[in-house]
Amino acid sequence: VCSPQLTAAWVTLSDKGAAGLRTDSSGPAIGEMFRGAFADSHVQGYLLPDEGAALKALLTDLALTQRYDVVFTTGGTGLGPRDVTPEATLAVIEKRLHGFEQAMMAASLCKTPHAVISRAVAGTLGTCIIINMPGSRKAVLENMQAVLPALAHASAKLR
Ligand code: MTE
Repeated sequence: VCSPQLTAAWVTLSDKGAAGLRTDSSGPAIGEMFRGAFADSHVQGYLLPDEGAALKALLTDLALTQRYDVVFTTGGTGLGPRDVTPEATLAVIEKRLHGFEQAMMAASLCKTPHAVISRAVAGTLGTCIIINMPGSRKAVLENMQAVLPALAHASAKLR
């Protein structure tokens, strides 16, 4: 089994989480699943309110300055007035990864028809792969299963 060391960051987008009004269980779930697939990998987590400018700045820093291999976001992919994660991601990525998006959608539609609501985007910035996922812990677990098998090969191709 191939298990290279990759570094990953997760970013939870949640107004309530950032205000301390809700405990974030989705971001930590990303970290657990990533470490399950890539043993001993470095994983760092962030919690932001649903603010596009702040997310764009953090994504750029994580990808280009801190040079993480993978950055996952969770939350803000839906239709709420404050849901801006896909727009912020599209503003910073260089190559869009439609395959990751479609793999997540296909897997998610097997779980719930509500998956169609997510506008999650995936793409590259520098040598980093950025992947949006919906906000619930359940959705994170389902979406991580869809993307984890292709991550190591995709990351290697970026170098
Ligand atoms: N995808 C999976 N795999 N599992 C889920 O439970 N929930 C959906 C969808 N995608 C879901 C899912 C729901 S109910 C919504 S509203 C959208 O993701 C957007 O979620 P977000 O606004 O928290 O990003």
